[in-house]
Amino acid sequence: MKRRTLVASFAVFVTVVAALLISSQTVLVSAQNHGHGKGNREEPPPPPYNPYPFGILPADLDSEIARVLREVDNIEFETLAQLQTLPPPTLTNQPPILAHTGQRLNVLLGKTMNFDRNISPFKDRACAFCHMPYVGFSGPIPSVNLTMVAYPGSFQFRAGKRTAQRYTYSPSFPVLNFNQTQEAFFGGNFWDSRATGYKLGSPDEEQAQGPPVDTQEHALPDTACISFRLQTAVYKPFFIEVWGDAIDTIKFPHNTEEICETPGGAKVFGTNTMPIKLSPAERSIANDVYDHWAQSLDQYETSPDVSAFSSKFDASRRSSTLFWETQPHFHCPQMRWPVTTCSRAKPTATPAIWTAGPLRQRLQQAQRRTAWILARQQTRDRCSPALARLISACR
Ligand code: HEC
Repeated sequence: MKRRTLVASFAVFVTVVAALLISSQTVLVSAQNHGHGKGNREEPPPPPYNPYPFGILPADLDSEIARVLREVDNIEFETLAQLQTLPPPTLTNQPPILAHTGQRLNVLLGKTMNFDRNISPFKDRACAFCHMPYVGFSGPIPSVNLTMVAYPGSFQFRAGKRTAQRYTYSPSFPVLNFNQTQEAFFGGNFWDSRATGYKLGSPDEEQAQGPPVDTQEHALPDTACISFRLQTAVYKPFFIEVWGDAIDTIKFPHNTEEICETPGGAKVFGTNTMPIKLSPAERSIANDVYDHWAQSLDQYETSPDVSAFSSKFDASRRSSTLFWETQPHFHCPQMRWPVTTCSRAKPTATPAIWTAGPLRQRLQQAQRRTAWILARQQTRDRCSPALARLISACR
């Protein structure tokens, strides 16, 4: 009897502790993602923007937006927990680096920014809203994909004209460049490559700086709103750990919240793209924060969490390369030099059997070329000075 009471009270204790833990986490995420306190809007959001012909806005749009926002919040919740349980990195070396967990910290910081919906005037759009993991980081609302195609931004239902690209592998695109031989442009991010990478050296980082101030996406009116929202973000300590605490030295004017909760493109701003009044020093810190913010987002997109390189194609490439590297061989009869020289260069292995399917031809070409180089090298090694005078392959 006594033992049963003990077990029962222990069960009650465990339930209470679990409930407390869950509720404290929920408070954390709702504080994070609904911005209680100073930043809350006093006015209701403006009436929806709907100049569209009938049938463009899908009937289930409101419930689908609510669903995706719930999913975004859940992933944000998970990510904050991951950040909080990550062992702190070690500051070491000259130049100083964050060793051990530093890179993971940067990736998770980028992830938490990616799922943070506070970076929009109405606190209702995170990057991930248009790029969800379960659809290859593209648009997650089936009815929108069949009707509007473009996703509604923070000011509902303003939308752009293009479908959301996947951001898998986008960090691997090179800086936009014109290849003279092929007479074509390569690299850059966005459908039209307008994120060139010319400033930060990475098109993907410069891409991340587009949506926050795109009037049809996050719609913030000033890039400094990112620093402003970061100053009250739950994950700010992690940002500071990676990028330093300069962000805290910006003293935002008292009307900053009012500015940041007014969507970009509003009449009140006219053509002013920097309505938050900051000193030149503060503006340059806000610009640096904006760069660092984009760099962390890029680190998340480049991590295996997003760009895994785990397809069958990647696997076959890896194994073929491995196979090739361990099996160099060459065939004298295929070489273009005299037989006498050829007899001195012995094949080192039997010809490889390729099973790589579509890659086979290209690999065989590479194989032949490498074999030729190897054979030539070997011939050179064995050529006596006398032979070198007689046989062109020895030169
Ligand atoms: C309202 C929907 C929406 C939101 C919010 C949004 N995006 Fe996008 N994203 C798009 C669309 C649409 C494109 C293609 C736009 C174009 O080419 O002009 C795109 C393109 C991209 C690309 C380019 C991929 C490539 O291959 O070139 C990346 C990366 C990306 N978004 C990441 C982000 C990040 C990071 C954020 C948050 C800062 C974000 N997106 C917010 C809709 C959105």
